[in-house]
Amino acid sequence: MKKKDTMVRYTLVPDTEDGNVSSNCLSKCPKLSFSKSKIIVFVVILAIALGIILLTVSQSNTWIFTKNMTDCLVDGTCKSGKPRGRISGKHHSKLDKSQYKKRLPQVLVIGARKAGTRALLRFLNLHDGIEVARHESHFFDRNFDNGYDWYKEQMPESLPGQITLEKTPNYFVDLNVPKRVYTFNSSIKLMLILRNPVDRALSDYLQLKLREKDPNKVPPFEHYVIDPVSGEINKSYSPLKRSLYCKHLERWLEYFNLSQILFIDGEKIRVRPWEEMHHVENFLGLDHQINKSQFVFNATKGFYCMKVAKPNFPWKTRERCLSPAKGRVHPEIDLDVEKKLEDYFRPCNNKLFEMIGRRYDW
Ligand code: A3P
Repeated sequence: MKKKDTMVRYTLVPDTEDGNVSSNCLSKCPKLSFSKSKIIVFVVILAIALGIILLTVSQSNTWIFTKNMTDCLVDGTCKSGKPRGRISGKHHSKLDKSQYKKRLPQVLVIGARKAGTRALLRFLNLHDGIEVARHESHFFDRNFDNGYDWYKEQMPESLPGQITLEKTPNYFVDLNVPKRVYTFNSSIKLMLILRNPVDRALSDYLQLKLREKDPNKVPPFEHYVIDPVSGEINKSYSPLKRSLYCKHLERWLEYFNLSQILFIDGEKIRVRPWEEMHHVENFLGLDHQINKSQFVFNATKGFYCMKVAKPNFPWKTRERCLSPAKGRVHPEIDLDVEKKLEDYFRPCNNKLFEMIGRRYDW
């Protein structure tokens, strides 16, 4: 068969003004010709284009409605910059973007520094009912004079019914903060994650060391925690002072009831994060959304990471871990020094356990 025979000829027939087909158009109008194969290619391209459009539209809905399946959860804002909302649609079945606005926090993670506060925040952000502030605002300790409007500006956008949450671990140890927080909202909910005070102090030391220009020149932990003259504990070393949990908590309890504070175990959040998050959901009066299936143990890092959806392929997941600054390898501590530190912290630990009616494994 000749190629010409395979051609299908189409004639474009423009309508007349009154809507009728012009009878003499056939002879005058330009003719467009397509081969069958060109039509197939055209249809395929059209289908692909339609598919892409549909995918894009559904993706943008996914971003809004399925927060915990997107990349949004990791840093507190979506990569696309789109606002986020609840999955359940219980309160927001018809999502009105105008309802998104910045709100002052109803919950604070007050500390303790280096006890797992970032992990707690990231895991909290898995829940649709929570929007977390991406950065530590340091409002109640350093920026209080900026006022509540400034503070609100630091918060993420949220929907009515969602909880806005901020974490600044320094709040726990700053003398001014409890009173300021109480004045701000006396019924606020507080969360405090605690970790073995010796481990926390060592982690604090590592953090400070790595901030130095030449970390390799920084003396070992033992140099700081033991007074070289007396051989006793150097009580003035900040990482040790920050681990005296009972002292700091005492100041908070001058203003807040114990029932307003949730104590989270930094060790448990490391090894079974979904269990600790279950307590957090209870404390915040939220439905249980965070579960084991959202975590994956990363053997290289030695910590749990989160499973999140790939940005453009919400049906596929990938691992999202905390930054390398979280979960550093700790150097071995001299055994005598470690024992001294344990003895030093023990009375305060016991006092803390009495105060909160719960024991930690340290
Ligand atoms: P180390 O780096 O000393 O191990 P913060 O976020 O308050 O600074 O706390 C940091 C600590 O979080 C880390 O201290 C690490 O032990 C702990 N952590 C708990 N769960 C983690 C996780 N899934 N990934 C990384 N670090 C985690």
